Amino acid sequence: MRILIATEKPFTADAVNRIEEKIEQAGHDFVLLEKYSDSGQLFDAVKEADALIVRSDRVDEQLFEHAPNLKVVVRAGAGYDNIDLDAATKHGVVAMNTPGQNANGVAELVFAMMLMSYRHFMKGSSGHELRGKRIGVHAYGNVASNVARIAKGFDMEVFAYDAYCAPEKMKHDDVIMVGSREDLYRYCDIVSIHVPLTEETRRSVDFDLMNLMPHDPLLINTARKEVMNEEDLLRLMTIRQDFCYMTDVMPGLHEILNSKFGDRYFSTPKKMGAQTAEANLKAGVAAADQIIEFFRTGDDHFRVN
Ligand code: 3PG
Repeated sequence: MRILIATEKPFTADAVNRIEEKIEQAGHDFVLLEKYSDSGQLFDAVKEADALIVRSDRVDEQLFEHAPNLKVVVRAGAGYDNIDLDAATKHGVVAMNTPGQNANGVAELVFAMMLMSYRHFMKGSSGHELRGKRIGVHAYGNVASNVARIAKGFDMEVFAYDAYCAPEKMKHDDVIMVGSREDLYRYCDIVSIHVPLTEETRRSVDFDLMNLMPHDPLLINTARKEVMNEEDLLRLMTIRQDFCYMTDVMPGLHEILNSKFGDRYFSTPKKMGAQTAEANLKAGVAAADQIIEFFRTGDDHFRVN
């Protein structure tokens, strides 16, 4: 089988070498397309692919039309909103993700942002400590549970809201479960957003929700830009001079937010939560293993369509 890695944002060379080694050891052909600049290159590359590994790369109807041999696509990562699942199903392609594999990398970035904000970008003025602060995680998946674990090391109080997560999981992690999104935002000094992008969550973090946060709040978004109501964020930050927003998913309104709010606002230039050697290796190798097992035994354990 021909297994293609197509990543506009590449894995580390070490991760690529390890994936290549695994694929070849299993008797398959390995093909690599990195840093491509237009979809034409991607469509060319998928022509003969039987399997595809991607990151946040767009996998849609058009791609499937160019990939007649494709049987499986694995998103090396958690969120699979970049894959058109209906189109995959229509073309008989199994879609999977690799949940949890890059979660620690994203969670550590949450703390990098928290410290940057609380220490005023290390520019010399007096800041605040994280110890004793209340952090709320909005949705309790793999990244959020890593955030909770690290927060305890900082002696923070950890709260969580997730309508879909079993309460036992939060109890097991010794996280305080709250009954509504509103309560989470109302109680917590810092809220870290971890909801996946769905029709339900799109633009769901809006003015009324954010405005519930207490004085000097910090909102961190390492999930997806589309879950924010950006116009509301702009309006709120204009009205509330104490509101801070740090994000790893650059808003459409980045230019204006950046020029208006100085050190109360920060965005990474490109999503980099999972951009670590460790996360690349774990998520990339998991994707390769899942494809190898799928071809060997039909195992589609992490199927999402
Ligand atoms: C994910 O959903 O796994 C993260 O957002 C990481 O995405 P990336 O692989 O594009 O960095």
